[in-house]
Amino acid sequence: MLAFTVLFSGWISFLLNLLFAPSVQTNLSLSEACFSTSQTLNGLAECLEDFTVLKGTYNHFTYLEAQPTVTQRDAWFKATHTLLYTDNNCTTSILPSAIQDIYAIDLFTDISGKSFCVLYERTVNPCSKLYEKGWGFAMVPASRAGVSRLIHISAPHPFFDGETTVEAAQIFSETGAKSLLVPGRMRNAFYAPSPCVQPTGSKSSMYYITDPAHNDQEPFFDANLAVWDWQNEQGGCPSSSCAFIQFHGKAEKTCSEDTIFLSTGLSRGSWYTDGVDRPIKRLQQKLVHAFHLANAPGKISLPSHSRCILTATKNVVGRYINNYPTSSTQYDVCHRSASPDITEGAFVHAEQNAFARSDKARGAWVRALNDTFASINV
Ligand SMILES: *[C@@H]1O[C@H](CO)[C@@H](O)[C@H](O)[C@H]1NC(C)=O
Ligand SMILES: *[C@@H]1O[C@H](CO)[C@@H](O)[C@H](O)[C@H]1NC(C)=O
Ligand SMILES: *[C@@H]1O[C@H](CO)[C@@H](O)[C@H](O)[C@H]1NC(C)=O
Repeated sequence: MLAFTVLFSGWISFLLNLLFAPSVQTNLSLSEACFSTSQTLNGLAECLEDFTVLKGTYNHFTYLEAQPTVTQRDAWFKATHTLLYTDNNCTTSILPSAIQDIYAIDLFTDISGKSFCVLYERTVNPCSKLYEKGWGFAMVPASRAGVSRLIHISAPHPFFDGETTVEAAQIFSETGAKSLLVPGRMRNAFYAPSPCVQPTGSKSSMYYITDPAHNDQEPFFDANLAVWDWQNEQGGCPSSSCAFIQFHGKAEKTCSEDTIFLSTGLSRGSWYTDGVDRPIKRLQQKLVHAFHLANAPGKISLPSHSRCILTATKNVVGRYINNYPTSSTQYDVCHRSASPDITEGAFVHAEQNAFARSDKARGAWVRALNDTFASINV
């Protein structure tokens, strides 16, 4: 009987081990592993992009499950805002507890010794190898001394817009920019219409609900607001040194004359041609110069000098920045378009052909941005 009991309890503990050992997770999730497998910031960005929720992945239920709750959305906003304030104190412990089992904050040091603080999703589904949530990632230089320019870089359309994620990461790093934002879902991750804005014209086309440039319910939008708030807390976004730059990729046949088509989110008009100094006007000239030096082909234009229709007037981040210069809890970016009278020009939308977003053009981009935005003394 005693022998039996010993044997029996041995079996019980064996079974308990089987049941509970795997939950003592010492293994890194797939996204956490990116931090040890990547050597450069480009590599890290590519590694994190690999888990992006792909086109057509969501249905009504899985989309709702992946969306943040009200509490999580608030925590996500705070997490991004806190990230902007990090200064050699990059750790998950500064994350709001409401999202600590979904998100992490980790230090990444590239082979050249530059360090970054990264907010990213740690929950990757082991079967699909896609993010469970897909809210995106954000990063800043790990110390304030590592920031050279108050420019904020983002790439809202991972995979869909070609290699804009890795492009944005490289340009963020090489210009010494303050922040980088990339969502964790493709714009067409759920083929349902955006409840926020609809495209003008053709009835058959639509903006998708998961398109963060056209739906203010996407977490990428909140992250932009958190960065905008931080920038305002530094005394605003001066034209000489600050901007929010969104990198996009266009099809070769769309606006085929333009290598890069820049817009502030306003369509044609005297705003682009009057005598007022705006970031986008300087950037256009510096890009023309830098691409010329690099012997790169094509035209780099503003809405005043191109027939291209990709002016981003319905971009919700652009509308917010153009309409709500001081941070505001009352906004209506779905219905209120930007007004040229109050638009300062902090929002810069860059549509690029394949060449402009390829690694061949990175040097020219970095030089042009460096020459457009004054570096700051910390
Ligand atoms: C870690 O992962 C390996 C391979 O998937 C697995 O065999 C091992 O049991 C895991 N370890 C823990 C502590 O979960
Ligand atoms: C990190 O350090 C900076 C500078 O000391 C401080 O202002 C900031 O509040 C700290 N952040 C957190 C989340 O502790
Ligand atoms: C751009 O600016 C950064 C930060 O000031 C600097 O390290 C880098 O060398 C500059 N690159 C170019 C091409 O001007």
